[in-house]
Amino acid sequence: MNSFNSLPAETYSFVLKSNDMKIGFIGLGLLGLPIAENLLATGYELYVYNRTASKAAPLAEKGAKVCTAIAGLAEACDIVLSIVFDDAAVKEISGELLNHLSPPQVHVCLSTISTELARTLQHQHAEKGIYYISAPVFGRPEAAVARQLNYAVSGAAAVKEQVRTILENSGGTVWDFGEEIAAANLVKLCGNFLIIAAGEAIRECTAIARASGLPVEAMWEMFNQSLFKSPLYQSYSARILQAPAGAGAFVSNIPMKDLGLLAAHANAMGQGLPMPFFLMEQLR
Ligand SMILES: NC(=O)c1ccc[n+]([C@@H]2O[C@H](COP(=O)([O-])OP(=O)(O)OC[C@H]3O[C@@H](n4cnc5c(N)ncnc54)[C@H](OP(=O)(O)O)[C@@H]3O)[C@@H](O)[C@H]2O)c1
Repeated sequence: MNSFNSLPAETYSFVLKSNDMKIGFIGLGLLGLPIAENLLATGYELYVYNRTASKAAPLAEKGAKVCTAIAGLAEACDIVLSIVFDDAAVKEISGELLNHLSPPQVHVCLSTISTELARTLQHQHAEKGIYYISAPVFGRPEAAVARQLNYAVSGAAAVKEQVRTILENSGGTVWDFGEEIAAANLVKLCGNFLIIAAGEAIRECTAIARASGLPVEAMWEMFNQSLFKSPLYQSYSARILQAPAGAGAFVSNIPMKDLGLLAAHANAMGQGLPMPFFLMEQLR
């Protein structure tokens, strides 16, 4: 049974519609920091925690309350947003959160994680009467600064509706994928697969065109204004054209992580999905 349904509806409005709502934010990495800055700029009372405490300094200067432990943050806030690196990191911070949150607090997980972990986390939170929402995010740190993120969101409808305003105020558009908790996580993994496949194809086309003496800038001008007129192709082709010859399409290890998570989901479904494996070989 899903214990979300057993909590009375009025607790949602009590917790999240209050004017003096306190927001906790865990994970001040490349993407977490500008998202937290947006929340602070909106005027929320913001409590922040990062494993490496020094990364909280820029937010402390702007009025955030810095917590030295997850326990203190959990106890001070109505709702906690987290954005740490991977499944292992999310398990670690969630274990600590679950020891200190109490009903009817809410944990919104923005990290890109496995569908399996999303389901496990929902179960573990529900067992303690804590609301859990999946809200993985599309957009690089520059997009966060420009408030042009996109959130795929899933989980209990009534809670999601309350969380929507906070996510919008953090710099993103909210796209709702229903109540199945892992739906948003799968959307995120599919989206990243498309981005990574496009990035690698753009890199390879540029390399072969350049090696053959084609005017590659002109080729991309044509593609970007006609067949591939999309922000994704425009930004990745511009980056690859400016990168040194031989550079990869991606610099972080996020693509490897996320292709692995999609491959694991496909495997659990018994579905053949060869391209992520091929891309992982290329990126290795
Ligand atoms: N960067 C992007 O363009 C982008 C875009 C969309 C989605 N995402 C997703 O957003 C999430 C965060 O990405 P990011 O780029 O911000 O990563 P990042 O810069 O590498 O930051 C990772 C964050 O996770 C924390 N962390 C890692 N392991 C931890 C652990 N065991 N316990 C506690 N905290 C831990 C780090 O703390 P420390 O500072 O102490 O290391 C840091 O705050 C990832 O799931 C990523 O896939 C990223």
